[in-house]
Amino acid sequence: MPEETLTITDNRNNKTYTVPLFKGCIRTMDLRQIKVDADDFGVMGYDPAFMNTASCQSAITYIDGDKGILRYRGYPIEQLAEKCTFLEVAYLILNGELPTESQLKDWVKEVTHHTMVHENVKKVMDGFHHDAHPMGMLMSTIAALATFYPDARKIQDAESRRLQILRLVGKMPTIAAYAYRHSLGLPYVDPDNSLGYAENFMSMLWKMPAEPKYQPNKVLARALDVLFILHADHEQNCSTNAMRAVGSSQADPFATTASAIGALWGPLHGGANEQVLVMLDEIGKMENIPAFIAEVKAGKGKLMGFGHRVYKNYDPRAKVIKRLADEVFDVTGKNPLIELAVELERIALQDDYFGSRKLFPTVDFYSGIIYEAMGMPSEYFTVVFAVPRMSGWLAQWQEMILDTEQKIARPRQVYTGVAIRDYEPIEKRATK
Ligand code: CMC
Repeated sequence: MPEETLTITDNRNNKTYTVPLFKGCIRTMDLRQIKVDADDFGVMGYDPAFMNTASCQSAITYIDGDKGILRYRGYPIEQLAEKCTFLEVAYLILNGELPTESQLKDWVKEVTHHTMVHENVKKVMDGFHHDAHPMGMLMSTIAALATFYPDARKIQDAESRRLQILRLVGKMPTIAAYAYRHSLGLPYVDPDNSLGYAENFMSMLWKMPAEPKYQPNKVLARALDVLFILHADHEQNCSTNAMRAVGSSQADPFATTASAIGALWGPLHGGANEQVLVMLDEIGKMENIPAFIAEVKAGKGKLMGFGHRVYKNYDPRAKVIKRLADEVFDVTGKNPLIELAVELERIALQDDYFGSRKLFPTVDFYSGIIYEAMGMPSEYFTVVFAVPRMSGWLAQWQEMILDTEQKIARPRQVYTGVAIRDYEPIEKRATK
């Protein structure tokens, strides 16, 4: 076996250093010993946007971006999407193993027990303007929960963490649904504990006041549950990184999750599903696709729902979603945008601009078309992404807290400003 080390020669003084390799990485702290003199701070790594820096060790989600593989706790996403319910997968992500029958029964019962929100939470939501973006309502209301549950600050207490996880997984669909109802000026619907997780979400979204009990369409409920499975975790993406970074300051999980929701909202991340619909509406018809592609290639805008930092192959989640779309359309009728999307994908995948950059459709390219067919407005799509991602964020947060190597996340910088200068009175300052 060759030695698992790297030898680095500092050409400034011809000194040589041996640095251990750890799971294919160097620890950048090992570079600090490389100095030209005692006053030198030492070499650091410089990696804007974490292009080649692992920030943690994690046993939750595995992605092989070149091969298009996604696994939660070792299980292929395709198998989980076919065989499991979302709550089973959430348990797996949070606990490391698929639940036994009795563990699943207890978990479902406990999550269901925590779906209701305090009446004052509804009042917080009532305060939003009628046209407030639902992601803004979701983010702020989840942050507000920190004031309802001050016990959540005991983040080192395993039992307290377990309780907050139940509260957040339980209340997420309720608050998400209330953001939707608030936009429409409709009364909030209490959770129905006799329904499954996705079914209950549908009931809270769409139950009408005169309806005694919401009867969810089984095909749509299963499709939503599968979409939840596909979105449950995705290793160190932007919002998970926010979750870990904010959580590393030992903020409570409600404040921490609110920050992750903020990160998810952005159009380059979870907000892409909303932007795909905006893009498809703008393109409008098949004959406009070539002109749109030409504009993207000229650097005027992006093909939303295409491209990923890690996937350099077809996103396995997009494959599952494409199959799911047909089942949904059998119930809802075909969303005319699907044909436009399929043709846009076909043309893009043939084009060398996208091929050479390994840009493929991701989960967001098709998910919005399904949500729209179900009757959801485009600004609501990212909320539907956030609901299941809660389990992934919390698993990553807990893993970070239990990781003895982790400390407050605090990157270094390379300072490029003025070195030092003297204060100037205001009357002497020249306009620059
Ligand atoms: N349309 C056109 N060109 C693109 C696109 C796109 N969607 N994505 C990347 N490129 C180009 C980019 O301009 C660059 O070209 P060049 O080398 O000539 O400068 C090259 O491809 C590499 O892109 P990058 O921006 O350096 O890649 P990144 O890893 O920093 O960005 C990304 C990843 C997801 C932010 C980006 O692909 C993108 O903006 N996609 C559109 C937004 C989107 O759909 N986001 C959802 C991501 S999946 C859901 C999730 O967040 O988990």
